[in-house]
This record gives sequence, C-alpha cells and structure tokens, in this order.
Amino acid sequence: MSAASGGAPPPAAQIERPAPTIRVRHLSHRFGSLDVLRDVTFDVGPGEIFGFIGPNGAGKTTTIRVMATLLEPMAGRVEIDGVDVTIDPAAVRRSIGYMPDHAGVYDRITVREYLEFFADAFRVPSLDVVDAVLELTDLGKIQDRIVATMSKGMKQRLQLGRILLHDPKVLILDEPASDLDPRARIEIRDLLLELRSLGKTTFLSSHILTELSDVCTSIGILEKGRLVVAGPIGEIAARLEALRGAQAHGHAPPRYAAAPGAYPAQAHHAPPVGPGAPTPPGAPGDPAAVDPLQAAGPPPGYGPHARPAADPAGPAAGYPGMSQLSRRKVKVRVLGDPEGAAFLLRGGPGITDIEIVAGAVHVGYMGNDVKIAEIVQHLVQRGIGVIGVEPERNELERIFLEVTQGEVQ
Ligand SMILES: Nc1ncnc2c1ncn2[C@@H]1O[C@H](COP(=O)(O)OP(=O)(O)O)[C@@H](O)[C@H]1O
Ligand SMILES: [Mg+2]
Repeated sequence: MSAASGGAPPPAAQIERPAPTIRVRHLSHRFGSLDVLRDVTFDVGPGEIFGFIGPNGAGKTTTIRVMATLLEPMAGRVEIDGVDVTIDPAAVRRSIGYMPDHAGVYDRITVREYLEFFADAFRVPSLDVVDAVLELTDLGKIQDRIVATMSKGMKQRLQLGRILLHDPKVLILDEPASDLDPRARIEIRDLLLELRSLGKTTFLSSHILTELSDVCTSIGILEKGRLVVAGPIGEIAARLEALRGAQAHGHAPPRYAAAPGAYPAQAHHAPPVGPGAPTPPGAPGDPAAVDPLQAAGPPPGYGPHARPAADPAGPAAGYPGMSQLSRRKVKVRVLGDPEGAAFLLRGGPGITDIEIVAGAVHVGYMGNDVKIAEIVQHLVQRGIGVIGVEPERNELERIFLEVTQGEVQ
C-alpha cells in the first residue's frame, strides 16, 4: 500500500490508509421542497461493518438508494470501490449486494429454487454457488422448504443469501434487523461477522441504535439529513472524551460546527486539519472554529470523515447538551451494605448525587472515566470490596445522546 521502497517505514502521519470502499462526498438531495440529504460526507473502509443510524425520516434509505444506483443525487458524489455510481451504475451493481427494506420473497417455491432462480438471473456460472450460499446462511437443512412457511428471520437470511450469489465485495443492507426477534437478530449478526471474515465490506442502516451496534466497526449518525458524526465508535468516544476534558479546562469550542475543509476527507477544499494539526482556539462565534469532534481527539484511523454541516440558520448547529456533557452516572456494586459505600462517597469532590437502587450504589458525578477510577480507589482504600462498576449507558448510547438533538424530520 505504501510507496516506501525497502528502507525505514514512513512516519506514522504519512502511512497511507487503504482507499475507502465507499466514498460519499457532499451528497444532497431534495424531494419537492424537503431537503432530505444535506451535504453528507463520509467514508467506509474495506472490511468495515458500518452502521448508518438515524431516526425514521432521517434520509438513510435515500442515501442507500443513491449507493445502490437507484436514485441520482441532486448534488454530490458516491463511489463504490472507486466507481462513481452515476457514471458506471452497471459496474457498481456488479460489486454490490443490495437488500432493500421490506423486501419481499417469492413465497411458493422452495429455498433452493429461490436461490437457483436468482443465480440464473445474476448469470452466476455454477450452481455450486447455491450450495455455498446455503451453507453460509445455514439454510442447507431447509433447502426444500417452501419459502412461505419460513420465519421472518429465515426469510431475512434467505434475502442475504440472494445478494451473496454474485459474490459482491460490498453489502448494502437497509434495516436488515428491523422486526426480527432476538434470536434471528443474533443469527444475522453472526452472519455479518462471518461475511466480514470473508473480506466483505458492509453498510447497514438502522433506526434502532443498539440493534446491531455490537457488530459495527464504525458508525455514522444521520439526523434530519445531516451527518452529525462518523467514524469508529472508539475514536468518536475518545474525541468526545477529549472534548469533555478540554471543556473542563475551559478551552473547548462551545460549538459543534465545522469550518469547510475541517476534516481529512474533504481534501479538495481547504487544506485538511490533519491529526497532527494544532487544536484551533475555536472561540465562540469564531468562523474558523473547527468541529471539536474532529480536532480534539487522537489521530483518526479510518475517520473522522463526517463533517457536521454548519447551519447558517444559527444556533441550531450549536453543540447540543454541552452543559450535560460531563455529568454522568455509574453503578457501583460492593460487598456488604451499600449504605457504607454511599456514605463514603456522598458529598465528595465531583459527586453530584448518590442513590441506592436494587442493592447498587448509583453515583452521579461530573467528569470523565478518571473520576470512575477515583471513586473505586476511594472505596477500596477504605476497605470496601468493589465487585462491579457499570457506567450507566454504553458508549454508543452516550455518543448518540451527546451528538444528536432528537429532531426528526
Ligand atoms: N420518493 C419520495 N418522494 C418524496 N419524499 C420522499 C421520498 N422518499 C423519501 N421521502 C422523504 O424523505 C425523507 C427521508 O426519507 P428516507 O430516506 O426514507 O428516511 P429513513 O430511511 O432514514 O427513514 C422522509 O421525510 C421521507 O418522507
Ligand atoms: Mg429507511
């Protein structure tokens, strides 16, 4: 990948990233007077499982239809595996497996007949492929079953099987887990992981935050047609954490708006603010303020490629919930009477409230993960046996609450 020939490896900042498998740039679309997509930009790297998350009406399906060559965007560009979807849609269709939301299946044929039919339609040369797909999707045992008699989860796996027949590099799945029962969801999740191990890149959408989040290597959050954040979950969390830290010291930008060109993916505009660039001052109202999520954190791996669009309308682009950013809760379980632990923590520095719920001490605090460590240390030093420490929300839920405003179009 790197152009370095032989000698010492290039410095970290110069190591080339692999070309993104999906590249979305400044995608905008309207239906009538409704701005459905507004300047959406992000990348999905090879081998990733990218979760595109947003409430109903956010514009997920519209984005996906552009990727799947079914809708020509009014502005912007989408490339799949280096091919522009509007310039060579036929080539793009060969490289993608697209599963629409609420797709139906032909009911009155068997599972094998269904797959053989589509193998023919896709001009897949060998029917061995059908066997391989039956095995991969674990549908071999029921290959002679009539599709109509299958559960929703099985039908969903059959749909996934259908889009794998031509061995596409990229899977584009619109709400693949919606309406599935927990077991079927777990099965889809396992299948996605297996497909990842086979080298596929997956883009999936969901309006339920936690539905498939545990398999996603990166996420993008879409709200009212705008991408509010994108990148690997760990990196976004780290950038938010750094932002909280900076804010605690009084120098985080209080806005959540990015200057044009403020993220690496937009290299053709102003020079990008790279990982090594200094954190800008980002004073209130500073037109050059850089999105804190982009600037405050560690070097991006495959992200950040999202640029939350600056809203010319004004404060709507302000960073939501800043005042609550550092107020968090952790559940602490201790050996013996929780009252003792509660007593030791009550009124301590940075502790906002203490409650005992179902035998656990719920500690409200201001700060970041360092504070959790301090709380545990404080208890342990005073002879309390700490047996469990559980931050109130998982990382993704916290990110979601911090970067979105809860608006639905
Ligand atoms: N063909 C269409 N004509 C008019 N409006 C549409 C059309 N498709 C989608 N919309 C509108 O665009 C918005 C985004 O829709 P969609 O992309 O389906 O969102 P999501 O998949 O996130 O639920 C919604 O307000 C929807 O009503
Ligand atoms: Mg949709």
